[in-house]
Amino acid sequence: MEIKTYLNEQRLIVEEALARYMLAPQDGHDFFGPHIEAMRYSLFAGGKRIRPILCLSAAAAVGQRPHPDADLLPIACALECIHTYSLIHDDLPAMDNDDLRRGRPTSHILYGEAGAILAGDGLLTWAFDLLSDPATSLLPAEQKLSIIHHIARAAGSLGMVGGQALDIANENQSVAFTTLQGIHKSKTGALITASVLVGAIAAGATQSQQEALHHYGEKVGLAFQIVDDILNATATTEQLGKAAGSDASRGKATYPAFFGVDGSREMAREAVNEAVIALRGFDEKAEPLREIARYILARSH
Ligand code: IPE
Ligand code: IPE
Ligand code: MG
Ligand code: MG
Repeated sequence: MEIKTYLNEQRLIVEEALARYMLAPQDGHDFFGPHIEAMRYSLFAGGKRIRPILCLSAAAAVGQRPHPDADLLPIACALECIHTYSLIHDDLPAMDNDDLRRGRPTSHILYGEAGAILAGDGLLTWAFDLLSDPATSLLPAEQKLSIIHHIARAAGSLGMVGGQALDIANENQSVAFTTLQGIHKSKTGALITASVLVGAIAAGATQSQQEALHHYGEKVGLAFQIVDDILNATATTEQLGKAAGSDASRGKATYPAFFGVDGSREMAREAVNEAVIALRGFDEKAEPLREIARYILARSH
């Protein structure tokens, strides 16, 4: 399997679903047109869509993907809406104060701070609308509730939001390694882990499959943020589509600040190895998940 081809195919499936499930002004919501336009501006700015792809790939690894359109794609889209909201808020002047994202001006540059905050709020809330809308998924209510709970837990104060608060509070501080681990696990790892887990739950994974995939998600999530840190220190703004070198200038707690670039790469490699080992009980249907783990280490943006 060529991972680039696979990621591209899956990305197109996600793009098509996002176009279908996302609010559009022309759907009779023109009263809210400018607000919806701001949400769409960031959502359709061309991200890698790695979280929805992990969700689809985890379901495929479990082996049951009977109604991907009806059951899985709204979940995958909800994950991307939450991720995009997190980026809009992460870039705000009160947070990382970035003016470039996904190769374009950030939301607050175009829509002002209030517009960007509300675009983020709108995307976050729309995610839970999509997840709970009886019209979008045929999954049994009990399964849906479990999925919604996992996503809410991962996105909130015990996950991403809490991690963002820690990230900001520890700027220009000398942090303990356990704090650095906590920041990465929560601000980035939690939503990535949930993406894998809810795909598995939607596909009817057993408890032991869920545990293995949870472990895979944690390791992949850690590797993902270590590589994000490394790229921030080593790649160019053009390559990344977002400001390079910003972590050092904002005094962020990062792996390269702790262990240097080479040491960090070694730790990311170790996390990827552990992720692949976590999948040992799965057959060839988990090959995309294994390849995604390796891709995360090798990615250049
Ligand atoms: C960037 O996420 C922010 C982190 C949590 C590291 P991605 O690297 O997935 O960003 P996009 O979605 O491809 O733009
Ligand atoms: C992003 O972390 C984490 C979330 C958005 C939740 P960073 O601030 O390190 O990510 P980039 O480098 O701006 O994408
Ligand atoms: Mg940040
Ligand atoms: Mg940032």
